[in-house]
Amino acid sequence: MHKTLIAAACAAVLAGCAGTGPSGSASDAAVRAKAVETMKTSFKERGIAKLDRLDQDETQSVCSQYSTAAPPKEVAERIEKANMALVKPPSDGKYLGDWKRGEQIAQRGTGFQYSDTRETPVGGNCYACHELSKAEISYGTIGPSLHNFAKIRGYGPDIQKYAWGKVYNAHAYTACSFMPRFGAQGILSEQQLKDVVALLMDPESPVNK
Ligand code: HEC
Repeated sequence: MHKTLIAAACAAVLAGCAGTGPSGSASDAAVRAKAVETMKTSFKERGIAKLDRLDQDETQSVCSQYSTAAPPKEVAERIEKANMALVKPPSDGKYLGDWKRGEQIAQRGTGFQYSDTRETPVGGNCYACHELSKAEISYGTIGPSLHNFAKIRGYGPDIQKYAWGKVYNAHAYTACSFMPRFGAQGILSEQQLKDVVALLMDPESPVNK
């Protein structure tokens, strides 16, 4: 009896997983639709956090079809190209703001949470995923350490442009990045983006000390 049940469960799993590719069979689509439905019934709206946050855009939905963060090369290139097109350079052409303000933005985790209002100052929450300086004793490690970012990469205009683009829209460089798209999704303002880029690029910033 037990064995039969287990065999039946395995068959169902296989049927759900079999297909020609990640976007393959009709049963894959059905499993994905069921997962979305389950999430939508499990989450509750609270404050400014509405259920539309569960709606995936094209990039997220393609990335969700792969079990690792790395889709096939041609898919990755397509996603990166589409996201690169969304990167807007600063209106005055200057990438660097004030690193001291940038540090406050990087250390601030508020904004867009259910307990925030629309007036709550928005931060970049960078420290939750990155080490930023040696003085830091508590930081997340989802992302690589950014300590000595410009000291290692260089302080020149190419790296400034890369830092801007990366913070503006990480998916332009890493198709299925876990990093928020701070510019492309309007999380940080143009001035805040410049301040954060200065935090990464200024030789006097604790990032490069
Ligand atoms: C939810 C986690 C998360 C948050 C929050 C986050 N990042 Fe990232 N970041 C990542 C991950 C993961 C990577 C590595 C994958 C990639 O390159 O996209 C990364 C990569 C980077 C890189 C590229 C590093 C390199 O050596 O090329 C930079 C620069 C960066 N992040 C800056 C920032 C800044 C500045 C902030 C805050 C405004 C921030 N990140 C917030 C997860 C995060």
